[in-house]
Amino acid sequence: MNDCRFDIETKNILNKLEETRKEFWNLPHESANFINMLIKIAKAKRVLEIGTSNGYSGIWISKALLETGGKLDTIEFYQKRIDLALENFKKANVNDIITIHKGSALNIIDEFENNTFDFVFIDASKPEYLDYFLKLESKITKNAIILADNVTSHYKKVENFLNYVKNNKNYQCELLNFDGGLFFIRKI
Ligand SMILES: C[S@@+](CC[C@H](N)C(=O)[O-])C[C@H]1O[C@@H](n2cnc3c(N)ncnc32)[C@H](O)[C@@H]1O
Repeated sequence: MNDCRFDIETKNILNKLEETRKEFWNLPHESANFINMLIKIAKAKRVLEIGTSNGYSGIWISKALLETGGKLDTIEFYQKRIDLALENFKKANVNDIITIHKGSALNIIDEFENNTFDFVFIDASKPEYLDYFLKLESKITKNAIILADNVTSHYKKVENFLNYVKNNKNYQCELLNFDGGLFFIRKI
């Protein structure tokens, strides 16, 4: 398995977090590695993650952002997971480029006001995916990449979101066959 040649501390923390993956709803290693590569290829700098959990995906994202010179904003409403994420971000030496926003994602997105993002990873409450996306539409730049996890495993809950994007001329999209299903969107 390609591990991006991470430093030993990062490898250790990611390996440890993979042992509790199911408990914290972390995305699969393969999806995380793909997102890491994509951020570097797209040279993304302003990344938003909806659904921090214990910071597993945030570490993969931030390690790519260290190369692009970018920053991560990540949203989580559960304090215990925020505490764990903070701890894990420090261990992986990425805490300096991450802001964790505590609260309900739909409220926090409103608070971003004039902020824009060139990469968004949606991985929180499945029935809210469409609402997140609708609120984000004015905040994502041309060619922005938006990825949404678990669209196959939770198909019924995200069907309205998938249909909205598929039928919208402002977006190009494809379903990627990673475990759980990863929906890939490009803003035209
Ligand atoms: C699937 S987990 C995120 C996993 C993480 N992205 C990873 O792969 O390491 C979803 C997280 O989103 C949080 N969450 C769910 N709905 C939310 C909402 N409406 N606002 C903020 N956080 C939310 C949950 O508490 C949970 O920790």
